[in-house]
Amino acid sequence: MGKAFLRAIESGKTYSIDEKRFESDSGELLEVAYEFGSMDTKALKEKFAQRGSSQNPLDKSGVWRFRELIPFMRSETNVVSLSEGNTPIYSAPKSASYAGVKKLSFKHQGLNPTGSFKDNGMTAAVSKAKELGSKTVVCASTGNTSASMAAYASRAGMNALVIIPSGQIAMGKLAQALDYGAKTIQIDGDFDDAMRIVQELAEEKSVYLLNSINPFRLEGQKTIMIEMLCQRNWKVPDRVVVPGGNLGNSSSFGKAFKELRELGFIETIPKITIVQAEGAAPLYNMWKNKSKKLEPVKAHTLATAIKIGNPVSWQKAMNVLEYTKGSAAVVSEKEIADAKAIIGSDGIGCEPASATTLAAIKNLAGNGIDEGEDIVAILTGNSLKDPQYTVDYHSDSLFEEFEGKKKKISAAYANKPIQLPADAKKIKHEVGL
Ligand code: F0G
Repeated sequence: MGKAFLRAIESGKTYSIDEKRFESDSGELLEVAYEFGSMDTKALKEKFAQRGSSQNPLDKSGVWRFRELIPFMRSETNVVSLSEGNTPIYSAPKSASYAGVKKLSFKHQGLNPTGSFKDNGMTAAVSKAKELGSKTVVCASTGNTSASMAAYASRAGMNALVIIPSGQIAMGKLAQALDYGAKTIQIDGDFDDAMRIVQELAEEKSVYLLNSINPFRLEGQKTIMIEMLCQRNWKVPDRVVVPGGNLGNSSSFGKAFKELRELGFIETIPKITIVQAEGAAPLYNMWKNKSKKLEPVKAHTLATAIKIGNPVSWQKAMNVLEYTKGSAAVVSEKEIADAKAIIGSDGIGCEPASATTLAAIKNLAGNGIDEGEDIVAILTGNSLKDPQYTVDYHSDSLFEEFEGKKKKISAAYANKPIQLPADAKKIKHEVGL
């Protein structure tokens, strides 16, 4: 096991791994860093694969199976797990043909215990919270973080305090936070307001913050890429495409590839493309304009998961784009909605934010993305999180409201439900039997 510590991302100043802090003294983001020492990568790759069929709860987790690459816990007995990870990679022929690319697959993080990729990060951060003796954990959320935190905190016997923008999170996610027993505060404000508030709350010693500004979250999320490589027998894709909101996930992916290359698990790294919705694209703006600092925006998008105007991890994400020679992309509401229907038609399904990936691949194919590239896109959340969006789309009644103006998103692939009397004859006639 390597020595672990917290490290400021610019100055490199280090702090103890057991310190409850989320920024350096000068306000920089922190990351978990390790003195790994040398590793027998061949033996470890075999070990990771074998653990897939083990009954040990640590091995059954698609996060802790890779524990040698996230060695920040003092004791494994503090691990809080729901057998997270273990998510499939699907081929997606209709989606590939829609986008005009040859080799596209989806890693479906929506098939996690609470239905999103947050579980990979949450098992890591809640386990550390337990180790640090935290009694109350808090997060701001667009819905998935709160659902995941509520579940893991309950498993760990902690109090969960969730701050969410009132009326702006999908119903499935709100239902989860309530069901898992989190104290749920709906504020009159957006996610960025909620994020500001939880950072203030976390100044209280008794409260531990579990948003992705917490560097342990990103350690867990690193394993999404480790598991993906393991499933592909360590064949590195050309590109990974991922939605960007608060920018924790994309940051964790870049960190995973950097460490795996330094340790000798892989020789090349994929380009990472981070996708944002048009109305919530501060990272894309920054990347396109080659600016040095993120300019926050007032966010709007029906993909509520990524309705974020002032993402905390923008510096980490920019470093990832540079390190992986990646790119940022932006997609419209209609492009997201239609792409989501296509992913559905492949029998896969996802929530709106996840469909930004396919929409961006379609926009960039032949113009930023080579048609022959081997692409893995990350579906971050389950289709059942936001059924209202899906039903509205397929009924061709999906509307975006912004600054008092209501705009219809026309649904090119609507599959409208048909209302008929309870009469087999009429149904036969309708469906041509
Ligand atoms: N996709 C989904 C489904 C999400 O829920 C989120 C973030 C993202 C993508 C973006 O990931 O923030 O790491 O860049 N949801 C957070 C939440 C903000 O509160 O659930 P990110």
